[in-house]
Amino acid sequence: MNVTASHLAVAIALVIASKILYNIYLHPLRSYPGPKLWAATRLTWTHAMQSGQYHRKLHELHTRYGPVVRIAPDELSYTTPDAWRDIYGNRSIPKNAVWAGQEEQKHPVSIVSTNEETHLRNRRALTGAFTEHAIAEHASVLEDLVGLMVTRFKESITSADGKTVVDLVDWTNFLTFDISGLLSYGTSFSSVSHGRAHPWVEISCSFGKGIALMASINFFAPLNRALKFAMPKSVMEKMEYHKQLAHEKFMQRLAMDDGRGKQDYVGSIMAYNADKGEVKIPDEEIEANMTLLIFAGSETTSTALAAVLTQLLQAPAALESLEKEVRAAFQSEEDINIESVARLEYLGAVIQEGIRMGPPASIALPRVTQREEIVAGQRVPSGTFVSVNQYPTFRSPSNFTQPDSFIPERFLSGSPFGSDRLEAFHPFLMGRHKCIGQKLALTIMRLTLARLVYAFDMRVVQTVRDFGEQNTYIFWEKKPLRVELRLKAGSSGAAA
Ligand code: HEM
Repeated sequence: MNVTASHLAVAIALVIASKILYNIYLHPLRSYPGPKLWAATRLTWTHAMQSGQYHRKLHELHTRYGPVVRIAPDELSYTTPDAWRDIYGNRSIPKNAVWAGQEEQKHPVSIVSTNEETHLRNRRALTGAFTEHAIAEHASVLEDLVGLMVTRFKESITSADGKTVVDLVDWTNFLTFDISGLLSYGTSFSSVSHGRAHPWVEISCSFGKGIALMASINFFAPLNRALKFAMPKSVMEKMEYHKQLAHEKFMQRLAMDDGRGKQDYVGSIMAYNADKGEVKIPDEEIEANMTLLIFAGSETTSTALAAVLTQLLQAPAALESLEKEVRAAFQSEEDINIESVARLEYLGAVIQEGIRMGPPASIALPRVTQREEIVAGQRVPSGTFVSVNQYPTFRSPSNFTQPDSFIPERFLSGSPFGSDRLEAFHPFLMGRHKCIGQKLALTIMRLTLARLVYAFDMRVVQTVRDFGEQNTYIFWEKKPLRVELRLKAGSSGAAA
């Protein structure tokens, strides 16, 4: 190394060392609790995010340091009910633009745009597809597909000696992607009917890792510009295939003229444009929304179903209570529809409890303060990333008694745990970015679980003990949930 190069190396080392010392000892967030290694550099956060264990690391940090922890030089993570209100109920704390970075500028905007005006315009246009009235219109799509899945299971039982074993992680994925396909593009992926994933669905499911990588790298500008070149060729090809197929499907949907009206997502946006008398949402934006909704609506709902089933099937008392409720409520499978399942209270509590233990949005997309704010009673300077992370919040003993046990009764009136802080439980978020698909997701979940529990006696063959053991890369990397199904005594064989 010549003299100039060694001077440069020393200078860089000094700059890095002083930045680290500044972050730990002089930064405006210095008095917030948290490990020094996380406060010193964003690299520790990045490593955790890329390890797949981010949700568990955050839980460990909150257990050790309390309800607010500094998890990067400029980031705070919270687990208290008042933080939900202070962050997501505050219109002047927007989504951060770093996670999506330059990618956002390269694509047409959609409902998840970080620009609040664009968000509002797209949200208004899509609202028509998610009202109770619209969901009632979707009833036959949902009921038929769930019925088809039950029929497939029954068929495999009759040909397999009184029982069958299915992977419910796979099947709930098939189901929710097929529903999403029908509501987005007017065509199913036919995964339930064929009993296997469409290649497009498999590609979509690996997107979480891409988003996690992008979110991490974007903190290290100008390194993020190199991201494109670092992507393996096979990944680039898959992305290109995904883009092309999304475009083809969208063009097919536009060409449909079967009077679908407001029933599906495209119809809702078109009706909005027609109402306004001008094209408020152009075709390329509609297409971007569809690509998003296919995934946002299905991956989350299938994960929630997997979380509920993983915990329920390992909790014999809760399973028995649910079987009693569902089997007493209906005379036959034909009575089970989106309206009748909404009346089942214990089922509702089972769903809440499953989502509490395995929240689909386990890791938050942080918001960023634009001026000094008060969050959870303390000052937070401008430019700070803030969020309530669901996994540590829902597993915190300060919020829930026996947080690692599946006890649906906590969500019923007369809960055995009066001290549970249910106001810390917002799996669909709160505020203006609250999940637009909440009612639809809950409807699909109630219907699926009621049909399964009514028709089958279920026994777990292979699963994780606790849903939280699995890795997350923004989304959960789910392991198989293999379940033995036998027809419930007195059940009606292969016809759904
Ligand atoms: C159990 C299932 C689901 C869960 C737990 C869930 C959770 C969430 C959460 C936490 C957010 C807020 C993200 C943020 O801004 O930080 C969100 C937003 C969103 N969700 Fe869901 N979701 C589910 C199902 C669905 C379904 C079925 C759809 C549509 C078919 C959907 C569409 C959306 C959209 C479009 C947004 C963005 C809303 C906006 O920014 O205005 N989600 N969801």
